[in-house]
Amino acid sequence: MNHVFKHESVMPRETLEALRPCPGGIYLDMTLGGAGHAAMILQQSAPDGRLFGTDRDEDAIRAAREKLKPFKGRFEVRRCRFAEAPQWLEPESCDAVLMDLGISSPQVDWGHRGFSFLKLGKLDMRMGTDEEVTAAEIVNTWSEVELLRIFRLYGEEPRSRRIARGIVENRSMKPFRTTLELADCIEKSVGRRGEKNHPATRVFQALRMQVNDELGQLEAGLLAAWKLLRKGGRLVTISFHSLEARMVKQFASYWALDYDPGDRLDTPALRIQRRPCAQWSPRRATKPSAQEIRCNPRARSAQLRTLVKVQDLPAGRERDWKRSPGREN
Ligand SMILES: C[S@@+](CC[C@H](N)C(=O)[O-])C[C@H]1O[C@@H](n2cnc3c(N)ncnc32)[C@H](O)[C@@H]1O
Repeated sequence: MNHVFKHESVMPRETLEALRPCPGGIYLDMTLGGAGHAAMILQQSAPDGRLFGTDRDEDAIRAAREKLKPFKGRFEVRRCRFAEAPQWLEPESCDAVLMDLGISSPQVDWGHRGFSFLKLGKLDMRMGTDEEVTAAEIVNTWSEVELLRIFRLYGEEPRSRRIARGIVENRSMKPFRTTLELADCIEKSVGRRGEKNHPATRVFQALRMQVNDELGQLEAGLLAAWKLLRKGGRLVTISFHSLEARMVKQFASYWALDYDPGDRLDTPALRIQRRPCAQWSPRRATKPSAQEIRCNPRARSAQLRTLVKVQDLPAGRERDWKRSPGREN
């Protein structure tokens, strides 16, 4: 079957305002998807702005090449994961970097990708075909304790214990092969009780995050983006769930400080003054308008944040923010 790649870009106007593309600029879209944002960046930076685009998903890369054809000569596209972008581009070469996190609509809408608990497909969930494990391998081989851990951690699923037990009992009779077999098992394990969301929603999110190592990738991606931005350049992130949002906030808040916290508790007497590496712009996240959410319900949990690069992160200490006390905005 020939599928058409359809993805509605989230907060298009707000994203452009945050990125500020202009003629002569160099931009990196690390999450091309259907290249909706990418095309807008190229339009706004005409006649000579340039765009580099990456995605780990072959379908997205194919769709992006097609969509960006009218901008021939002004863009380059490459399939890679966040962490690999610095192997391709020069440090401090970009005026702005976009990370529109999460999944594209075709990843869930096309049943054969195996992301949807409503559509029949092989239990896959890999964004790129070179990811190490599929969702089927996880549910069929991981221990009950490991399943419980990821359902709690990535799905924040309160009924994780019952669901993990149900999966382990069922797979001993017949391994899970399809999305609907798993969704059905979860529904039988916890019941439905008139809930609005399908009881498999959080478990599918957790599996997807594990299969694609989404938080590990985000961490690597923030560091990669920082290397590639010039001083004064803008990093724009769009997050869709609380774990992603928390990581972006923690990274940004730590590097926007004008001192190094001396310990995990950030004891004032132990602080050491330094120049901030980053600056929030603005301090608060931007959210989609009610009208956008009405037209595109998938935008409802989106949060857009912009950080301006003041300077590089100190060499050898790029991961210090992970130990920070966790200031948030
Ligand atoms: C929400 S979509 C982007 C949509 C795009 N901004 C648009 O306007 O069409 C997110 C994309 O990021 C890609 N992606 C997610 N994690 C990635 C990673 N670690 N490395 C590269 N691409 C990633 C996904 O494959 C997906 O295509």
